[in-house]
Amino acid sequence: MTATLDAQARAILTGNDRGGYTVPTEGLYPYQWNWDSAFAAWGFSTFDVDRAWVELETLFKAQWSDGMVPHIVFWKVDPGYFPGPDVWQGGTDPASSGISQPPVVATLAREILAADPAAGVSRIAALYPKLVAWHRWWHEHRCASGVASVTHPWESGRDNCPDWDPGMRNVDGSGAGSYTRRDTGHVDASMRPKKEDYDRYLAMVAFGRNCGWDQAEIIKNGPFLMADPAMTFILIRAHRDLAAIGRELGQDVAEIEGWAAALVDGLPQIWNERLGCYDARDLRTGEFANILGSGAFLVWLLGAVDPAVEARLVAVWDRVKYGIPSADPAAETFDPRRYWRGPMWPFLNALIAMGMVKTGKTALAERLRKENAAVMRAHGFSEYYDPMDGTPCGGPNFTWTAAVWLTWAGRNAEGGS
Ligand code: DGY
Repeated sequence: MTATLDAQARAILTGNDRGGYTVPTEGLYPYQWNWDSAFAAWGFSTFDVDRAWVELETLFKAQWSDGMVPHIVFWKVDPGYFPGPDVWQGGTDPASSGISQPPVVATLAREILAADPAAGVSRIAALYPKLVAWHRWWHEHRCASGVASVTHPWESGRDNCPDWDPGMRNVDGSGAGSYTRRDTGHVDASMRPKKEDYDRYLAMVAFGRNCGWDQAEIIKNGPFLMADPAMTFILIRAHRDLAAIGRELGQDVAEIEGWAAALVDGLPQIWNERLGCYDARDLRTGEFANILGSGAFLVWLLGAVDPAVEARLVAVWDRVKYGIPSADPAAETFDPRRYWRGPMWPFLNALIAMGMVKTGKTALAERLRKENAAVMRAHGFSEYYDPMDGTPCGGPNFTWTAAVWLTWAGRNAEGGS
């Protein structure tokens, strides 16, 4: 059974391979997405390490001159996706979007390196300066407040999660005009963000496009700026992983360690006492989102977690049957099949488990792995799942779900498959 699922997962990766980059799923997402690609590479590393490195190398071919690595690279225009390169006008070659996405590459590159250190050393050495430039971009353009922020919900990768509700309320989407969404032609509209969300997403894109993606202007006057615990935890962990890579390569990593330390110092800004957890916060108004979601669960990436916080997180997890949900089922906004407003996303669960393992929480990590494996065994490799009954949601044959089956969910506690 596991061997069959392994073969199916590998077939999804190779089937979604478009030659040097992998699409998340056919139809719904026809381009190269930033953090999807990092997970694809991790998946490829279980059976084709060279192809894993190629995935990352292709992504970095789209790096902007200021170091930013875009969230979508439009390698080959596909009218089945909206908004495309004409809307973004990223102004680069290859065409790309104008925002980034959570920088998980350094963390997953370490895993890929571990799969075959001899094959990986020259590949990571070539990527290293590009990774440093990207991490410096995050430090300079998204972390000036002390914590990592996002200028668009799409930059967080957790598009319509309730974390962004306070910031979204202040975005004026009334000028969006008429447009045709393509996502709802591929997937049931009840599983996707709503029209009022899309109107605002497009208003934020228009602001960036109209100022030529001037980062200082976007931070100062853009329609949306929220501190993101998930981005902060991912970035701290990624800075530490990049520093570890740099040390192996004989580089001076003091600057990178300084970026990580500065973010650790800023953590009190996103501590929500009322919630008893780290929480997203609108940097324009100071308002907390007051919602416990998957972002807060990534806290294990930092290191040992306070027992009271752990108990709070596990209590939320206990409310569902399959994996850690993207939002608290006890919240009024919980919607178990609507994208990031409740569903369980295996790739994010894999990242949470990585933190748990590193901090010695092996029983929790094993519970999480088993719940994810159960839903994949029952329903295959979907984009996300209803955490209550396991119903597969979103796009089918999904790259990062297949990838984390191969690297994590489909492997037993001893590491075998
Ligand atoms: C989408 O199109 O839904 C993506 O999440 C944007 O990156």
